Amino acid sequence: MTAVELIERKRDGGTLTGNEIRWLIAEYTAGTIPDYQMSAMLMAVFIRGLNGEELTVWTESMLTSGEVLELSAIPGRKVDKHSTGGVGDKISIPLAPMVGACGVKIPMMSGRGLGHTGGTLDKLETIPGFRTSFTAGEFATLLAAHGVVLGGQSEHLVPADRKLYALRDATGTVPAIPLIASSIMSKKLAEDLDGLVLDVKVGRGAFMEEVEQARRLAETMVEIGDLRGTKVIALLTNMNQPLGREVGNASEIRESIDTLHGEGPEDITRLTYALGAEMLVMGDVATSVDEARAMLEEAVSSGRAFDKFKEITLAQGGDTAVLDNPDLLPKATNEELVTAPISGWVKRCDALAVGVGAMRLGAGRQRKEDDIDPAVGVTVEAKIGDRVEQGDVLGRIRWNDSYAYGVAAPLLTDAWEISDSPVPPSQLIIERIGAYV
Ligand code: URA
Repeated sequence: MTAVELIERKRDGGTLTGNEIRWLIAEYTAGTIPDYQMSAMLMAVFIRGLNGEELTVWTESMLTSGEVLELSAIPGRKVDKHSTGGVGDKISIPLAPMVGACGVKIPMMSGRGLGHTGGTLDKLETIPGFRTSFTAGEFATLLAAHGVVLGGQSEHLVPADRKLYALRDATGTVPAIPLIASSIMSKKLAEDLDGLVLDVKVGRGAFMEEVEQARRLAETMVEIGDLRGTKVIALLTNMNQPLGREVGNASEIRESIDTLHGEGPEDITRLTYALGAEMLVMGDVATSVDEARAMLEEAVSSGRAFDKFKEITLAQGGDTAVLDNPDLLPKATNEELVTAPISGWVKRCDALAVGVGAMRLGAGRQRKEDDIDPAVGVTVEAKIGDRVEQGDVLGRIRWNDSYAYGVAAPLLTDAWEISDSPVPPSQLIIERIGAYV
């Protein structure tokens, strides 16, 4: 078998056998198949797709390309949540301690920001000393002791995805349903989970702009979970505008702390509770989402959720002083305002423009090896449907580097559009896909 034969067959709309896919992924991971051939294959898959059988083997081959966590000795159900990526999406940070405080084990493996979407690891690492990289043994020890680990993917977990994702990013082949589904599910299945809650983003700031595409992505991932015996539930949620008010690394930690104190923005709080309730039912500690929600509210109002965040932070080497006093987190030296040109209602608060703008300020990275500036970002003061008067502040641009500010500013000042007639607020949770049994 040669890579060229397989590329040509997929290019012409044919199907690949299980053995061919296993060979392709194994040889690419080992470095025998070069990037240029795999790039051509990815583009062929991007255009032609994979059928159900091909996708199952593709995902399985990625999953077994490296080590798989073994957590069965730790009692209790292990449930994780994964977002397909968004702007201002810090939900994992308040969610994990809230759900952990209610007794579900969370072996959470998050990613770094790439492109216009932020990454949970970058945000957590603005807490001085916070470690996110662990060996499989350390990961299991932390999970057994604290019930929650907020870690990153190790070098050895799903190495095929590490290589494939970087190649997709450089070849315009990221937003393809089979490639996203296999990338996410191979990593999540390697965590030895009993259940997974997916937050599939839809809209301007998401990989999937249309509900129909996002629904197909969610259904595909639910089916992959079913075939492996892992329960998967997906919520389709709105990513036309940023989530919450803060977009930036340190400021999103501040907003997460507010949420853990019950004082977070309405959309962050609502989505955290909705995803958390699914996790508690999946984790078998609640019998309905209503009961689960009440448990989460109690964990917040009693302070147990915040205490859990402090416990996790301490266990992972972080300085808890910044959690008690978020003013100690890095702050940008300059602030510029975006103001409303006319009175009216906010019609557009563009997640993509805010995300790209924040990245250009230095909050995100365009290439994997770029450094980030934890202090810079954008505060969103007006969201879709809000009434504003001429001159009101729509957003605050917090910056340190004047060149970076110069390239980000035009995008950010153009991110809002005001209508002279009322605009309904946008729907946050669009649909739920999957079943517990
Ligand atoms: N997140 C992933 O882990 N993989 C993708 O392909 C897209 C989002």
